[in-house]
Amino acid sequence: MPNRDYHNQRRDYNIASLNKKNLPSSPFKQLVNWLEQVFTTASIQEPTAMTLATVGLDNQPHCRIVLLKKFNEQGLLFYTHYDSNKGRELETNPKASCGFFWSELDKQIRIEGRVEKISAESSDKYFNSRPKDSQLAAYISKQSQVVKNRADLENKMQAASKKFADINVPRPKQWGGYRLIPHKFEFWQGRPNRLHDRFVYEKQGSNWSITRLAP
Ligand SMILES: Cc1cc2nc3c(=O)[nH]c(=O)nc-3n(C[C@H](O)[C@H](O)[C@H](O)COP(=O)(O)O)c2cc1C
Repeated sequence: MPNRDYHNQRRDYNIASLNKKNLPSSPFKQLVNWLEQVFTTASIQEPTAMTLATVGLDNQPHCRIVLLKKFNEQGLLFYTHYDSNKGRELETNPKASCGFFWSELDKQIRIEGRVEKISAESSDKYFNSRPKDSQLAAYISKQSQVVKNRADLENKMQAASKKFADINVPRPKQWGGYRLIPHKFEFWQGRPNRLHDRFVYEKQGSNWSITRLAP
């Protein structure tokens, strides 16, 4: 039986700090500040990968990675299959949470809010900008459903590839974007001796409160 002990696996976090006086009043500005650092850190290969957590009907939380494609003060956009597990969960419970961790910068961000589908026109626009193979994969995949085997998937891809050889792939109706509209952000900066800096922004009407939390 596998049995491993990771008790001695530890490192100190000592490259940066976070102070209330340097925080902008908008968490979206802080998000931009950190993403700009992330995008200029060459060793970070998936800067926009975020863990998305949703809750099932049985109250079981589920998490998975999705890619952040765009954000502004209206929310954070990601794309997926509306009839996937996450899509079905969001249909009945639109509350969601997402998180980023960039170990190279000792930074974590957690965001909580509710999601809504973006317009069909916006989903079409993004779908049409994707590489054809990604469009075909979205077209043939019934995300989160059981597949017989790999060959079945590849045969479907080949058939779709032929079918759409000379014409555009239409966006499948069940594929599109969601906007996560946040009401809470937490910015975590790793610090020495586990005395990390944590600041929470919470929406208060049209403003945001900022609070420091114990690490
Ligand atoms: C780096 C990375 C990026 C991913 N990006 C997406 C994405 O943008 N959209 C998506 O639907 N799934 C994405 N996935 C796959 C999801 O993690 C997940 O397997 C899939 O969405 C099915 O999740 P569900 O069954 O909980 O609905 C990504 C996975 C990884 C590891």
